[in-house]
Amino acid sequence: MSRKVTKVVFPVAGMGSRFLPATKASPKEMMPIVDKPLIQYAVEEAVGAGMTDMIFITGRNKRAIEDHFDKAYEVESELAARGKVDLLRMVQDVLPKHVNCIYIRQAEPLGLGHAVLCARPVVGDESFGVILADDLIDGEPPIMKQMVDLQEQMQCSVLGVEEIPLAHSMRYGIVDPRPFEKDLDDVVAIVEKPAPEVAPSRIAVVGRYILTPRIFFHLQNLRPGSGGEIQLTDAIQALIGEERVLAYRFKGTRYDCGSKIGYLAATIAFGRKHPEIGEEFERMLAAMPR
Ligand code: UTP
Repeated sequence: MSRKVTKVVFPVAGMGSRFLPATKASPKEMMPIVDKPLIQYAVEEAVGAGMTDMIFITGRNKRAIEDHFDKAYEVESELAARGKVDLLRMVQDVLPKHVNCIYIRQAEPLGLGHAVLCARPVVGDESFGVILADDLIDGEPPIMKQMVDLQEQMQCSVLGVEEIPLAHSMRYGIVDPRPFEKDLDDVVAIVEKPAPEVAPSRIAVVGRYILTPRIFFHLQNLRPGSGGEIQLTDAIQALIGEERVLAYRFKGTRYDCGSKIGYLAATIAFGRKHPEIGEEFERMLAAMPR
């Protein structure tokens, strides 16, 4: 019998070097888009997909993430005393009551694959989701929900993918796709950060995965790959030899908030549709001198 995917891994132990000095002492995932940190958007997406166990792979300087999802007694009593009911509710609603947070330390940033392997003792023998919070994806239903529905139907690993300009192939894991259905391909092979001349396609894996537990076996046996890191892509390539892996072109808009330009684009897009300041922001943008 198929089991529902209830566990999701958030690897948040990376260096965030592209955002230095902002990330010198605080995590990239706590950077806000308008008024919510990236990691909260990611958790909300997982909750929207029906997931209940949030597994954070943290590292140095990441304490702020744990604090963010803890109850904030001082802030709450201060807001209550001042009668700021709306703000109080916003702070209390950061995490629904039925959701568990589990924190695992990655002592050294040895790569995304290594970060995912750190989740093994908690994930055990179940399929699980992976969300990279710096890929902020705006979509309805939430992208993870689209992927969980697909996984329930197909009972295999599912990678969130999108078409990218060929010149950007060295930033992504790139799949060799074999068309299966509309928006869904079988993955025949996957390569980490190939040069444009050798990239098998323009279909890139972005920060959303649903993986079977067999991935841990391959992660454990991997040697460092591209950039000297344990690459999740290499373990997926090994998995393809044994199991079906699908690439899903999700419905939604992705902002690469690990890059400055993507972060700014997300800020503008979310600012424009923000219920409180959206209209004023739009007017301000229109009137902004060049
Ligand atoms: P990135 O490649 O974006 O690296 O990692 P980074 O360190 O976060 O950022 P830059 O490139 O230095 O600016 C992809 C994801 O994998 C996580 C990161 O937190 C990010 O979500 N990661 C990466 C880990 O958790 N551990 C690692 O060892 C490496």
